Amino acid sequence: MPTNTQEGFATKAIHSGQDPLQWSHCSVVPPLVMSTTFRQDAPAQHRGFEYGRSGNPTRNVLETCLAALENGKHGLVFSSGLGATTALCALLETGNHIVCGDDVYGGTNRLFQKCVSKQGITVSFVDASNTKNVMDAIQPNTKMVWLESPTNPLLKLADIKAITEAVKAVRSDILVVMDNTFLTCYFQRPLEYGVDIVVYSLTKYMNGHSDIIMGAAITRRDDLESQLRFIQNAMGIVPSPYDCALVNRSLKTLEVRMQQHMKNGLAVAKFLDGHPLVERVIHPLLPSHPQHELALKQTTGHSGMVTFYLKGDAFKFLKALKIFTLAESLGGYESLAELPSVMTHASVPEATRALLGINDQLIRLSAGLETEKDILADLDQALKACQ
Ligand SMILES: Cc1ncc(COP(=O)(O)O)c(C=O)c1O
Repeated sequence: MPTNTQEGFATKAIHSGQDPLQWSHCSVVPPLVMSTTFRQDAPAQHRGFEYGRSGNPTRNVLETCLAALENGKHGLVFSSGLGATTALCALLETGNHIVCGDDVYGGTNRLFQKCVSKQGITVSFVDASNTKNVMDAIQPNTKMVWLESPTNPLLKLADIKAITEAVKAVRSDILVVMDNTFLTCYFQRPLEYGVDIVVYSLTKYMNGHSDIIMGAAITRRDDLESQLRFIQNAMGIVPSPYDCALVNRSLKTLEVRMQQHMKNGLAVAKFLDGHPLVERVIHPLLPSHPQHELALKQTTGHSGMVTFYLKGDAFKFLKALKIFTLAESLGGYESLAELPSVMTHASVPEATRALLGINDQLIRLSAGLETEKDILADLDQALKACQ
């Protein structure tokens, strides 16, 4: 079904790729096709599907919907967010160089430093909140600029349009990639700023129910789609059809979930801001955020992610929480809290963590969809317990 870019976000989430007329039984909810193989009319003559790794109807539905929501052209799903990152790295060759934001997800940092480096691909980490740092790091062999905005966990922003325009002006063959996991296509659509590929951990807000591990890459470029489609099949980094059906279902409520995450996250940020036991709150929609203006310019809102420096004992605080669960991950309906220095970002070298300010006082919250007053009351009692 062709994508109608004029349609509203929720309409696209509910209808793109879901046309009942594509199935002979006209089911309104797309069928979950678990078959790993498909009957052929004659040798090498099939009706669009031959083997489950190379293509699956349920997966197609999700990929079409993702492309539409991003105002992209092609969506591809992978077995995890890092699986999507692995697929993108397979676009590179030995001798290539990546410029990467210094404060990206710890697993991305680990993949680049410990795995991709073995293929003879080098990486420079820079503070991408200053466009000049990105440009200064570009070398003759640079083939990819990898950005997260906001970053994980410090919520630093990169000026997506400025960076993309500057990079493309210097060398149009450098791929600009944006990990959009923290905001989703509901609040930020990097392809509209000229980014080549948007990448996701669908595990987070896009699925939003903390029960699926999956990743995605979305692009407008036909050449990148065909290369990534080949990699998806050749490297076998595919998700199960069952998981695709669940993520497809979850996208139907993405708009309402993101609105509520933003509301609860902002309430948390305002509650913590100025609290005597809190050193500093980081939230792009607070005027105190150093890039507040940029947030207003390039996003239409913020998710439930809030980071803050605690004055009290972080271990006591995290242990005292009752509504917030002490756990890794983010973006689910349930509120989560974690200590990045020893949890999600433990794989980041200690010296880098120290330089970035990821210390044992820095707490990352993912505000869920519980009732606002209960979320705030939980923080209040945990703060009192950590003195
Ligand atoms: C911003 C970001 N990108 C990528 C990933 C990796 O995704 P996955 O855990 O689905 O492999 C994560 C996981 O936490 C993340 O937070």
